[in-house]
Amino acid sequence: MVLYFSATGNTEFAAKEIARITDDTALNLLQKIRTADYSEIRSEKPFVICTPIYVCEIPYFMSRFLKRVELAGSREVYFVFTSGGYSGCASVLAKGLCKKKGLIYKGSADIIMPRNYIASDMYPIQDSETIHQRIESAKQQTEQTASVIKEGGILKSRHVFLFETLIILPFVPLWIKLKLTTKAFYVKDSCIGCGKCAKVCPLNNIDIVEKKPVWGKKCTHCMACICNCPKDSIEYGKITVGKERYLFKKYGG
Ligand SMILES: Cc1cc2nc3c(=O)[nH]c(=O)nc-3n(C[C@H](O)[C@H](O)[C@H](O)COP(=O)(O)O)c2cc1C
Ligand code: SF4
Ligand code: SF4
Repeated sequence: MVLYFSATGNTEFAAKEIARITDDTALNLLQKIRTADYSEIRSEKPFVICTPIYVCEIPYFMSRFLKRVELAGSREVYFVFTSGGYSGCASVLAKGLCKKKGLIYKGSADIIMPRNYIASDMYPIQDSETIHQRIESAKQQTEQTASVIKEGGILKSRHVFLFETLIILPFVPLWIKLKLTTKAFYVKDSCIGCGKCAKVCPLNNIDIVEKKPVWGKKCTHCMACICNCPKDSIEYGKITVGKERYLFKKYGG
């Protein structure tokens, strides 16, 4: 079974393609993550865990979920990361997670996708030509990954040097504390109070109060709320004003 989380559609594309090519099913983990539902997920075929990369790692909420959820049936697990180009020490963490859970790690794949971090001025989303090129190449990488999984092979991601892990692990909590704040989110008058932003938040961080979103403090900056708003009514300070919202389906068909 292919398990995935996706905020803006890149990982969902990869997960569904892998499920299609390997004759398997894809399960969106959003509701399970939102409701802290760690009940058994059973698969006779190997598990394929697909996740975006946040700040050089598997997102914290995803790692937390994977540590607790009961995986039954197959003992084999593949990991598929979608990122803007650098998956940091995610494969080391994936291997460690499998070891802790008594699962057999079958390797990781890095699928390079368009960047989706529109609330970042350091890693802005790319121009539409680059996005289209990245999607075309991601389609090929996804197919290659799926055929390895179908044959029961081992996925080979890039080598992670020890110094990367030593730098990344202490850096991430600091970055999260300083950068991943919700203070700058606000909603414009064009908001129609549909509640979609609240429903797509993996951390249940948005309440709809008097038909407008109100952000709490637990945010991972996944970009699901801001990019999925049907009216583009959400802004993050000045950074997002006038910027195109990123969703895979706008570019990938
Ligand atoms: C908070 C945040 C942090 C990110 N950090 C990284 C990173 O460290 N390296 C990288 O290559 N891409 C990074 N990205 C880009 C995403 O991993 C990439 O666009 C991913 O495919 C998005 O997947 P999704 O559309 O399924 O949500 C980051 C994106 C966000 C929103
Ligand atoms: S998704 Fe957009 S329109 Fe709907 S409630 Fe949220 S901000 Fe308002
Ligand atoms: S509030 Fe934060 S965690 Fe929730 S959807 Fe928006 S960006 Fe993602």
